[in-house]
Amino acid sequence: MQIFGVDIGGSGIKGAPVDLTRGDLADERHKVLTPQPSTPDAVADGVKEVVDHFGWTGPVGVTFPGVVAGGATIRTAANVDKNWIGTDARALLGERLGGLPVTVLNDADAAGVAEMRFGAGRDRRGTVVLLTFGTGIGSAVFVDGALVPNTELGHLELNGHEAEKRASSKVKDDEDLSWERWARRVTKYLAHVEMLFSPELFIIGGGVSRKAHKFLPLIEGIEAEIVPAQLQNNAGIVGAAMQAAKGTEG
Ligand code: BGC
Repeated sequence: MQIFGVDIGGSGIKGAPVDLTRGDLADERHKVLTPQPSTPDAVADGVKEVVDHFGWTGPVGVTFPGVVAGGATIRTAANVDKNWIGTDARALLGERLGGLPVTVLNDADAAGVAEMRFGAGRDRRGTVVLLTFGTGIGSAVFVDGALVPNTELGHLELNGHEAEKRASSKVKDDEDLSWERWARRVTKYLAHVEMLFSPELFIIGGGVSRKAHKFLPLIEGIEAEIVPAQLQNNAGIVGAAMQAAKGTEG
């Protein structure tokens, strides 16, 4: 079965039909730049452009970089336009897509759902924490494979700052940090998350996970196993489609 997945990010809106049996894109993904300001209306137009590119007419799963209550209502918007807060994204996007059924979930939760089924977390029990390092830091927490949604661990405090303002991969770029300096910050952050959750496994996602060989060997003193995400850039799209597929079951 195929379902459409869309990943709304701070810089791009990307999507493709997803083959849910393989857990992979069924077609080359299409991307448009996230409009600035990233208001609900402007982003909804971007999502429509991506979906229309494929002439898609079935269910659509969409990720959002903030807290998403009940698969619909946006509660926080740290790195996108604040007008999203309080918006019923499911209704807005459904209407913009001409009535297609839409499911919305947090972007890191979507990436986690995909990694647990098809990637680095496959068949892993116990507590697994996926962290995405990008514009912000996203988190997805699983207990015996079940998602605890909207955990928002990127906003934990780290040395008197929000963690994502010290250790995201955007901060690494903005402050031109070496891999060593950035890895020290990431290590402190992981130690904090480990103190709270004692996970068996950390999965490190986000675009920077492609360069895991440059920084994972620099992270020391963490008890949990630490592995890079496997689906990388497509995890959000795949996870969004998986979530939308749930809504079509029986
Ligand atoms: C948001 C999270 C999101 C993460 C990654 C954070 O700023 O609060 O909801 O998952 O960025 O995009």
